[in-house]
Amino acid sequence: MKIFIDTANIDEIREANTWGIIDGVTTNPSLIAKEGRSLQDVINEICSIVDGPISAEVISLESDKMVEEAMELVKLHKNIVIKIPMCIEGLKAVKLLNEKGIKTNVTLIFSSQQALLAAKSGATYVSPFVGRLDDIGARGVELISEISTIFKVHDIKTEIIAASIRNPIHVSECAIEGSDIATIPFKVLEQMAKHPLTDIGIEKFLSDYNKSK
Ligand code: E4P
Repeated sequence: MKIFIDTANIDEIREANTWGIIDGVTTNPSLIAKEGRSLQDVINEICSIVDGPISAEVISLESDKMVEEAMELVKLHKNIVIKIPMCIEGLKAVKLLNEKGIKTNVTLIFSSQQALLAAKSGATYVSPFVGRLDDIGARGVELISEISTIFKVHDIKTEIIAASIRNPIHVSECAIEGSDIATIPFKVLEQMAKHPLTDIGIEKFLSDYNKSK
């Protein structure tokens, strides 16, 4: 499973990229707004750090406006993927962008039917939101499993990005259920790297070594 980092914060992206684990980056308008800089500035800087798919989201809600925004965004870098919200206007935009050879990531996916439509319209990626489903008492990981099964059975090439990841268990469960990618916040990446028994082990090795001197 590939790992994307789900942030627009440059320090987090720079740090995680040094670990050798980052295959791409996803942003959204909320994450960009937190940085207090223009979308273009943030995306340009991200592209100078990570060599992989970088999702930048449009904010228009009409297909022709979405395509206009997308055409400007793809000028920034060859790795730009246009993130489009799941809705009928979004599907129309995905179709048009796919015809132009532009990669898309259909976001805010909450059902396998939405994922199927997005894939049919030509989406390169679909982003089912695991954590937001858990928040309302549904099982987010089950959605990953359903989409993964449908895409396998019908040989659909669209890749699944498990999004709205809130903890390390989400990551391992999405990997088991066949997600192609998980897009993970920096805090969860740090949690994944840690285990209390590892810390105890390191301390013991060091103290034994120091005692022997
Ligand atoms: C990524 O593509 C999504 O925008 C992001 O994972 C949403 O996460 P949230 O539900 O924690 O806001």
